Amino acid sequence: MRARAATWRKEGLSLGLVPTMGFLHAGHRSLIDRARAENDRVVVSIFVNPIQFGPGEDLASYPRNLERDREVCRAAGAEAVFLPSVSAMYPPEARARVTMTGLTETLCGASRPGHFQGVLTVVTKLFNIVQPDRAYFGRKDAQQLAVIDRLAQDLDMPVEVVPCPLVREPDGLALSSRNVYLEPEERRAALILSRSLALGRNLLAGGETRAEKIKLEMKALIEEEALVRLDYLEIVDASTMEPVVEIDRPILAALAALVGRARLIDNFSWPDPGD
Ligand code: PAJ
Repeated sequence: MRARAATWRKEGLSLGLVPTMGFLHAGHRSLIDRARAENDRVVVSIFVNPIQFGPGEDLASYPRNLERDREVCRAAGAEAVFLPSVSAMYPPEARARVTMTGLTETLCGASRPGHFQGVLTVVTKLFNIVQPDRAYFGRKDAQQLAVIDRLAQDLDMPVEVVPCPLVREPDGLALSSRNVYLEPEERRAALILSRSLALGRNLLAGGETRAEKIKLEMKALIEEEALVRLDYLEIVDASTMEPVVEIDRPILAALAALVGRARLIDNFSWPDPGD
């Protein structure tokens, strides 16, 4: 991968990277399409990164379909699919890890200790191996996007982190590789998550600025769905990821919930980032 990317750079070609864990869907595809439009060469990495999963999480059962993923990448016009092995990425002697203070203590960072260290470490490695001009990340994982944007700035990584819009099913469910875990009844129940976010957005649009009030109404709606167990629902400052009381600056409203075997996340930013 490193040699291939070096050849392209020598030819003066720009390079876009789309990091993924595979089982590609239309959300991933939108990132690849954007990368395709903005770069001469596009690399999609597919690597189910073991160190970003906690004990008891779904590493072993994480959905995989390499044949279909290759086809999605080919159809989208990516020049390369990078498929490193776990032993190549993490040989037994490896010791270095990348961590962050701040941004990672709330939301998913609070529920999944060590998760962002795993993400920061693998993304740093992917950036160093591929050395892309641009790298594409979805707003589906809004905290991850904020963390990776800080990583690149703080460590002077010569890559532009490009945020991409959250892609939803027509009925509102945020696309996720983990949606395959949902039984039909759970799939229906999960709609309460995007509906509660729509409710929060409407309250904001109607002039409500008290975060607590908005969170209470959103939680009350989610509680009506017995199949959905809320992990967290928080309204945070978009730049610090710390909870806000009064909504007087850009915020992220984010939630995580367990629906059957699936842990689902969803969010919206306010004001709308407009991308
Ligand atoms: P994964 O969950 O496969 O997601 C890969 C990229 O696709 C992420 O940037 C994610 O935000 C984006 N994505 C997923 N669902 C989306 C949707 N519905 N709309 C828009 N974008 C969406 O996120 C990871 O993998 C990993 O943590 C990774 C960054 C690859 C590091 O291992």
